[in-house]
Amino acid sequence: MTAPILSARFDIPSPIIHGGGSRHRLPDLARELGGSRVLIVTDPGIVQLGVAAEISRLLETAGFSVAVFDEVQPDPTDKNVDAGAAAAADHRADLIVALGGGSPIDTAKVVAVRQANPQPLPEFMGLHKIKNAGLPLIAIPTTAGTGSEATKVAVITDTERQVKMMMLSAPLLPTAAIVDFELTMGMPRALTAAVGVDTLTHGIEAYVSRKANALTDPLALQCIALSARHLLEAWSNPANRAARAGMMLAATLGGMAFSNSSVCLVHGMSRPIGAVFHLPHGLSNAVLLPAVTRFSVEAALGRYATVAQTVGCAPSADAPDTACAKLIAWLEALNAALEIPRLSECRGVTQATFDASVEKLSTDALASGSPDNNPKVPTVAEIVRIYREAW
Ligand SMILES: NC(=O)c1ccc[n+]([C@@H]2O[C@H](COP(=O)([O-])OP(=O)(O)OC[C@H]3O[C@@H](n4cnc5c(N)ncnc54)[C@H](O)[C@@H]3O)[C@@H](O)[C@H]2O)c1
Ligand SMILES: [Fe+2]
Repeated sequence: MTAPILSARFDIPSPIIHGGGSRHRLPDLARELGGSRVLIVTDPGIVQLGVAAEISRLLETAGFSVAVFDEVQPDPTDKNVDAGAAAAADHRADLIVALGGGSPIDTAKVVAVRQANPQPLPEFMGLHKIKNAGLPLIAIPTTAGTGSEATKVAVITDTERQVKMMMLSAPLLPTAAIVDFELTMGMPRALTAAVGVDTLTHGIEAYVSRKANALTDPLALQCIALSARHLLEAWSNPANRAARAGMMLAATLGGMAFSNSSVCLVHGMSRPIGAVFHLPHGLSNAVLLPAVTRFSVEAALGRYATVAQTVGCAPSADAPDTACAKLIAWLEALNAALEIPRLSECRGVTQATFDASVEKLSTDALASGSPDNNPKVPTVAEIVRIYREAW
C-alpha cells in the first residue's frame, strides 16, 4: 500500500554514528561540533553501571572539561529539567551529551534549549512551541528503546498538574547521535521487553498514522521487521549481539519514523496511565497495544495487513481481515512470551484507582492530540472501553 503524496517535513540528527563500539568516536564528534565544556546528562542507574564514568573518561582523556548531571528520574519531571539547566549554567557547558534511556535523553533535550527559550516550561507542551535552537546535543541511547536519540520529541511530567507534557519541536532534535548496541547488552529482561515493545509500537503507529508518508514508511516497516526478528531473542538470550544490534537499529529507525509521521492511540492512552500509575513507558504501551490494534484495524485493513506480513504472522495470500486477526493474536502471544502482565496485574495499579480515574484517563488521552492521528479516531467512551479491555 502506498502512502499519501509527501508534503511533510523530515528531520533526523546528522550524523548518526552506529554500530558496536561507536561510543569511542564521541571525542571526535564532540570536537567536530565545536564543544569544549561538556555536560553529561544521565541517571543514577547509568552511573551505577559504570557507563557514565566510561564516557566521562573518554572525553576527559581527549582534553574536554566534563561535568555530570545524574539526577534524572524515570519519566522525568520539570524539576529534573530545572536542576539540569542549573548544572549546565554552572559548568558553562557548550555541549550536552545525553546518556541513557529515553528519560535522560528527553531531559537533556529540554535542558539544551532551556536558556534560549526562557518562557514557563508548560508553554513548551504541544507542537512547534519551542522556537529557538539551543546548545548542540549528542544523544547516546542505552536502551533499545525509545528512539529518542532520533526524535524531535521530549516527554516531561508537569509535577503540579500530574500531566506528561508531550513536546514536539524541531529544536529538540539531537544534533547528532551515537548508537552503540553494546551499551544495551546489560539490560535486564523486563526492561528489554518493555522498551522493545515500545520500539515495535513506534514502528506500527508510524506506519498506520494519518501522517504516514513516503519517507517514513520504509523506516517504520524496517523497524517492525527487525523488532519481530530480534526482540524475543534479545529477551531470552541477552548476550546475543546480533539480536541486541537488531533491536538497537529498530529503535533508532522507529524514532526516525514516528518523529516524522506520528504516534497514535497507543501512545495517547499510555501517557495518562504512566502519569497516574507510574508505569514505565514501554510497559504502559505494551499492555494497550493488542486492544488498541483490535479497535483500529477496521479503518486501515490494508496497512495493518502489511504489518502482519512484515512480522511474519500472515502470508500475503491472506485476505486483509484474516491477516489483521492474525496480527492481533500475534501481538497477544508476543506479550505473553515476554511476560508482559495485563494492566490489572501491573505493580501499583488497583481496581479502585482504575475505576475512579478511567474517565479522566480517557479525557486526557483524547486531549493529548495523538489519538487524532489514529486510523480510527475514538470517542472518550470508546477509549474507556479499550482501557477496560486491556484491564
Ligand atoms: N522523546 C521520545 O521520542 C520518546 C519516545 C518514547 C518514550 N519516551 C520517554 O522515554 C522515557 C522512557 O525511557 P526508557 O524506556 O528508555 O527508560 P528510562 O530512560 O526511563 O530508564 C529506565 C531504567 O533503566 C535503566 N537503564 C537504562 N539503560 C540501561 C542499561 N543498558 N542496562 C540496565 N539498566 C538501564 C535506567 O537507569 C533506569 O533506571 C519515558 O519518559 C518516555 O515518555 C520518549
Ligand atoms: Fe514510545
